[in-house]
Amino acid sequence: MRSVKIARTIIELNTLLNQYRISSTIGFVPTMGALHQGHLSLINESKMQCNFTVCSIFVNPTQFNDKKDLERYPRTEDEDLKLLKEANCDLVFLPSVLEMYPEPDKRVFDFGTLDKVLDGEARPGHFNGVAQIVSKLFDIVKPTKAFFGLKDYQQVLIIKALVKQLNFNIEIIACPILREKDGLAMSSRNALLNVSERKLAALIPQLMSSIPSLITAGYSFNRILLHFETKFLANGYNLDYLKLANAQTLQIENDFTDNHQQIVLIACFVGKIRLIDNLLL
Ligand code: PAF
Repeated sequence: MRSVKIARTIIELNTLLNQYRISSTIGFVPTMGALHQGHLSLINESKMQCNFTVCSIFVNPTQFNDKKDLERYPRTEDEDLKLLKEANCDLVFLPSVLEMYPEPDKRVFDFGTLDKVLDGEARPGHFNGVAQIVSKLFDIVKPTKAFFGLKDYQQVLIIKALVKQLNFNIEIIACPILREKDGLAMSSRNALLNVSERKLAALIPQLMSSIPSLITAGYSFNRILLHFETKFLANGYNLDYLKLANAQTLQIENDFTDNHQQIVLIACFVGKIRLIDNLLL
């Protein structure tokens, strides 16, 4: 097992990375830490597709619209470094807030419908913060390819739009959702669930995976929504949204169609913890 190189400043990163820039393809996995198998699958994919893999760990304050959410976000640097070393990641970038935001970032992005619906609506400013930090990280790391998980489906579409808008010469690779044994989508936030909340959270994948058979049985989307609301209410969940959308544009749609690919997206609170998931139809 090789040791993972650590850079905490942009100067340190460039010193370590510049020698690889010309001859190597650089794969980049941006994260906010509290790493789990889902992140490690992105590292593995990057290692398969590129010669040199960089992972960043930075809990980005500008993408949290709720201060308490930012405070309680898990921070597990030692454990993360251990996992990255085991995964043979080449370099980890661990900048401070001052390094990334030497002055406030006032840029306002507009991604049309993409950032106005779903999490864009439920978490105002969230995707603007994501676009701010990801564009900064892309400028600093200058990767050949960047790897993102499809659990954050809306984020993947927004990052693809960001790359287009800012003319980044970076290929965005969207990777499948990794799930726990009971189907719960892997997320750093799962670590914040207590034992009973963790058990309850399994209802999300259970219900989501029942959707294809409900469609076959002739259920309309509204009927499925009602069914979910009843189940969630009975289990003490707070459903933030369950929406059906065009999988390309994220235009919200009222019912199922065979004309184009659709996606069902869910966000709900289990206790205080907000979890998301989705199902491509
Ligand atoms: O998906 C995440 O963990 C974050 O939104 C990202 C892309 C690392 C930006 O902070």
